[in-house]
Parts: sequence; structure tokens; C-alpha cells
Amino acid sequence: MEITIPAELIPSDPRFGCGPSLIQLDDLTVLKEKGPHLLGTSHRKEPVRALCREIQQGLRDYLSVPDDYSVVLGNGGATMLFDMVGLGLVKTRIIHHVCGEFSDKWFKASHRIPWIQAQALRVDYGHAHSQFATDGADVVACTLNETSTGVMNTALPQVNEQCLLAVDATSGAGQIACDLSKVDVFFFSPQKVFASEGGLFVAILSPKAKARIAEIAADPQRYIPVFADWRNALSNSEQQQTYNTPAVVTLFLFAEQMKRMNAIGFTAVQRQAAEKAEHLYQWAASRDYLSAYVAEPANRSTTVAAIDVADHISVDKLTRYLDAQGLVHGIEGYRALGRNQLRIALFHNITLDDVKKLTALIDFLIESGEFDHVQQ
Ligand SMILES: Cc1ncc(COP(=O)(O)O)c(C=O)c1O
Repeated sequence: MEITIPAELIPSDPRFGCGPSLIQLDDLTVLKEKGPHLLGTSHRKEPVRALCREIQQGLRDYLSVPDDYSVVLGNGGATMLFDMVGLGLVKTRIIHHVCGEFSDKWFKASHRIPWIQAQALRVDYGHAHSQFATDGADVVACTLNETSTGVMNTALPQVNEQCLLAVDATSGAGQIACDLSKVDVFFFSPQKVFASEGGLFVAILSPKAKARIAEIAADPQRYIPVFADWRNALSNSEQQQTYNTPAVVTLFLFAEQMKRMNAIGFTAVQRQAAEKAEHLYQWAASRDYLSAYVAEPANRSTTVAAIDVADHISVDKLTRYLDAQGLVHGIEGYRALGRNQLRIALFHNITLDDVKKLTALIDFLIESGEFDHVQQ
């Protein structure tokens, strides 16, 4: 296929994937300079603990974390926390609000634990929950931003004193507003908005959640694997370290991104995200071959946009071409959804200018006719 692409349509950076996301490669130059103090040295020593401290304090400032909450770091990513919630925070019953593949994975993790009950309250993919269930639960689970569908859940349930609200904020934290004083366990991995590598988790815990950890751990009947023991995660985080050896590059990239975001603050980051989202959804609305997958505008994510493409166009062919040319990476839809869909990240490091170039480039390619399904 011979297509000459006008230079002004080419984004300055090809990475639009929904995670791992666009990492600032210049950070690696800084890391190289600091290398001997950080890489290949003990993670129990001051240089690495200073990084953990920077991340913890950076998150406190950036997310306005209440003073009596703990910022816990550990290994295993958000997926690890799917198990840790069920094993170490649920007394008898958890209700999951399932609206996509990630919230379903979390439900399935809880469902496997024989000594707790897990119930799923489902909505069709592409929708957010407008009604919540909390009755009889001692933990209620929600997903702030469903990465598989591009649904943003801005409304969250209210829980009573006996119940914890746990929120998987993996692809929303840092860009989608959430009042942490109403959440007991707010967790995420840093390879989305926070532009780091995977493998690490952050869990922000309320005093109520910390009391529950102690209560469950005191029950001699409960099996808690050592690696999933919240007490280890909490006590190590209080000493600015992780229970077992972390990937220091992940911590470093996270700390650098934290500085960049704190330099402008949450409100400005959120506003920039809204501008990018507005451009993208407006674009989809104004092309007859595109439409936003999420029907309700208020639930269209400002971090991960899912855009349906008309059947006569092959998204598969289009995204493979863009990828092979090195022009745009990672914009295919979430595979398990099986739709003819684009999924485009709007994370902080992706600029509005590049989002504009991306949409103009996609227009140009679609209008060339080269990506139509060939009639057999
Ligand atoms: C909403 C959500 N939850 C959980 C995860 C799992 O994160 P990790 O792979 O870091 O464990 C992801 C990953 O994309 C996600 O988007």
C-alpha cells in the first residue's frame, strides 16, 4: 500500500496505548546519571527509600489524601490487590459493580475465595452503574474507570460504618476526580496516568480499612498468604519501602512523573484531559463513520476513549498499518470486547496537539478508502 502522509499529520510521539502508557524517555537520561546510587544497590538503603517517600508525599499532595490515610506501596500491581481485598479485607461478603473486563476479573478473584461470598451487580458493557447495591456487604467494589470499555464512573456508592468502599482506580487515578475521604481503599498501578512501568501497586487506605486489616488478621481461622498480608505491606510502607524487592526503575519513573504533575496540580491536569476528551468525542460525533461507544456523555472517559468505527472500515487493517509504519501504537480496541473499535489513551503525557494530529491522520487514512473491507 503506497500512501504518502503529509508531515503535519504525524504525531510527535506514536504512543497512544492505554497502558503501559507514554513514558517520558528523557527520564531515563536522568536515571542514568543517578544510576550508581539507585540501580544495583539495596532497596532498603536511603536512595531508594527516598524515592518511595517522594512518591508517597507526592501522591498525598496531588490527590489531597486525608492525613490519617496511609499510602501503601507494594509489588504485584492492581491485580495483586484483587486478591488482597478478598483475602484480607472482606469479612463475609463483597458486592462487585461489574461494567467491563477488569471489574469482572476482580469479581472472579473474590469469587474464588471459598470462605467469602462474592456477588456481582452487572450493567451492559458501555454503561456505568446508576444504581448501587450495598446491603449485606462488608466491602463494596467499584471501578473508577473501566479501561476495557472507556466508561468513567463518576458516581460511587455511599457505604455505612460497617462497610468499606474499595475502588480500583488503575486507569483513572490522577486524572479523574474522586473524593478520597469517601473511599476506604483506593488503588491503582502506575503504568497509566502516572506514566511508569507496571509491577507496582499503590493502595491508599482509610483508618476504617486499617482497622479491618487488623480485625481479619486477628482471626486465627483466616488463611492469609504471606505475600498478600496487608500488615506486611503497611508496615514496610511506613518505612518507605516495599515488603519484597521492587523494580527501582518503576519507582524512579513514577517519582519523576509525580513531580511533573504536582508542578501544575490536579485541577490543571484534569482540565487538560477534558480538553483532549472534548476534541476526541467531538471528532467522533462529527464523522459519519465514527461514534462514541459510551452512549452517556457524562460517562465517557477522559483517560481512555472507545470509539466505534463503521463496519465497512477495517480497524484491524488500519491499526496494523499505523503500528507497522511506526506512526501510532496501541489504539486497537480491547480484544475481549470483539468490536470494530478504536481505544485511544488520553493520559497526561499525551498532548492535545498530538491528539489533534492523530484524529486528522485517521481521517486522512479512512478517507483514502485503503482501509475499507474488500468485498469478496
Ligand atoms: C482498571 C484496571 N484494573 C486493573 C488492572 C490490572 O493492572 P496490573 O496489570 O498492573 O495488575 C488494569 C490494567 O490495565 C486496569 O486497567
